[in-house]
Amino acid sequence: MCGIFGIISSDNNAPTSTYKGLLDIEYRGYDSWGVAFLKDNQFKIEKEIGFLPKDKTFESAEVAVGHTRWATHGGVTELNAHPHTDCDKKIVLVHNGIIENYLSLKKELIGHKLISETDTEIAVHLIEDEYRLTGDLKKAVSNVFKKVDGLNAFVVSNGSQIVAVKKGSPVVAGSAANGSIVASDPNAILPHTNKLLFLEDNDLIEIDKSGIKLFDAHTLLEKDVKYTDVDWKYQGADLADFPHFMLKEIYEQPKVLLALAENASAVTEIAEDIKKAYGTYFVGCGTASYACLTGVYLFSKIAHRHVNFSIGSEFTYIQDYIKKGSLVAAVSQSGETIDVVEPFQIAKRKEATLVAMTNVIGSTLYRMADKKLMLNAGPEKAVAGTKSFTSMVANMILLAYATAGDLKAGVEVLEKSAKEIEKVLEKADEIKALADKLHTSKNIYILGRGLSYPLALEAALKIKEISYIHAEGFAGGELKHGVIALIEKNTPVIVFVPNDETKHAILASAQEVKARGAFVIGIGEEETEVFDYFFRVADTGASSILPMVVFPQLLSYYLTVKLGLNPDKPRNLAKSVVVK
Ligand code: F6R
Repeated sequence: MCGIFGIISSDNNAPTSTYKGLLDIEYRGYDSWGVAFLKDNQFKIEKEIGFLPKDKTFESAEVAVGHTRWATHGGVTELNAHPHTDCDKKIVLVHNGIIENYLSLKKELIGHKLISETDTEIAVHLIEDEYRLTGDLKKAVSNVFKKVDGLNAFVVSNGSQIVAVKKGSPVVAGSAANGSIVASDPNAILPHTNKLLFLEDNDLIEIDKSGIKLFDAHTLLEKDVKYTDVDWKYQGADLADFPHFMLKEIYEQPKVLLALAENASAVTEIAEDIKKAYGTYFVGCGTASYACLTGVYLFSKIAHRHVNFSIGSEFTYIQDYIKKGSLVAAVSQSGETIDVVEPFQIAKRKEATLVAMTNVIGSTLYRMADKKLMLNAGPEKAVAGTKSFTSMVANMILLAYATAGDLKAGVEVLEKSAKEIEKVLEKADEIKALADKLHTSKNIYILGRGLSYPLALEAALKIKEISYIHAEGFAGGELKHGVIALIEKNTPVIVFVPNDETKHAILASAQEVKARGAFVIGIGEEETEVFDYFFRVADTGASSILPMVVFPQLLSYYLTVKLGLNPDKPRNLAKSVVVK
């Protein structure tokens, strides 16, 4: 989702640094971009629809702000792209979030020239009025911030200062040898410094040549700046020898699993909390929600314990039974997903214990949580989650085994599944050949039962979100309740057949779709005559879902490439969904 970068640079290289910063956060997803820098007392703005061009050069300047926009208010046009300016091009502003009361605020603007359809542009003109009155940029920004409803981050510059303020949307700053920087993502600051200042909600920072000052955004009382020394490595656009990040990240999965297995004791404390909790609720969105649902099956099967699961955006409607003593675990790769942050806020108000299962140290969920369980999957740049899903499920497996008092067994199944994933990866060409055959399909259906039901949902999401082929996952048992009406001659149906208690029932489901003419693709340990195509994945016990998920990951990847699309940047999607 929208990315923000701003710098006051001591080497007069601010526009180029900003452009590079935007490249570092472009994985978040965007549809237009812009960079503004001061030239002859006015801001010059370069904006374009589409992706940042490679190897673009800029003039030199001391101050610049930039933005990657994911359209919310107003279509994808150059005029709507950020940065936006005041009437005289003396102030620029970039924004992440939604100004909920922008229509009423617009009425306060008299005699201003607005050129875009965005809510954002209103803010810069309001700041223009306030700046004229106060002559103090931080006061002007604070006054406007106080009027604005919604979750928003603004970065504003008058050419000599940058002021940033936030509520909801993430903002990080850093003080480096080549200047002071503000961004929406630590990865854009890491090339400059590892000392980061994570802004809390209602924090405001003022950056000038002398450095960074921190204030309360409402009272403007100065606060101490406390930098966090992070030991993360900068992750540039390093594809190694892979054509896309998604493929690279799929291939990293065995390594991720082995590292989690090695550090399995990390789950012990949280497993103890789960045992003591009044009730445990796993909350996540999209791919993470399917990992949460996997948790329900795993805890039942392994620990004989009921845990609850909710999609983040639905949590509000089922939160009434959360109370002190409940444990709410937010499962999120980015740690920023607004639909998970809000449940966490509710749970906090109710004094539940908060656990963050996230991949990003210092993220919003990480900072809100009482306890953290890191996914340790390494940075995930492709929009589609792959290794993060694997890590979420692996952590669920370890938690369930630890809760059952047999963590060693959890480690063993993870090690087994890492080996089996290697074998699946060795057969990637077979999956590519299948993608060549299926890429013209209009619909693909996926069936699973038990633990393979969330797997079927995840498989369908992977296929549809990057290849745009319609795909749906179903519980095999639902077929006769309506779904079977969709099956026509040659409809591809993927069926997950692990060697567990679901095997016979799911094979019966496979027979039912086959009888209606489906092209049945079986994934499992044993080939049977019902399959028109078979891909072998050895059973690894409770972790069988892990090697099996690699099949739809690779299938969706190869379908997408065959269709001439970019699997790393699917249309309309953002890696980090920070607005509602
Ligand atoms: C799909 C995908 C999304 C995310 C969802 C939650 O491949 O990646 O569905 O899983 O947006 O994101 P996080 O895990 O960052 O909260």
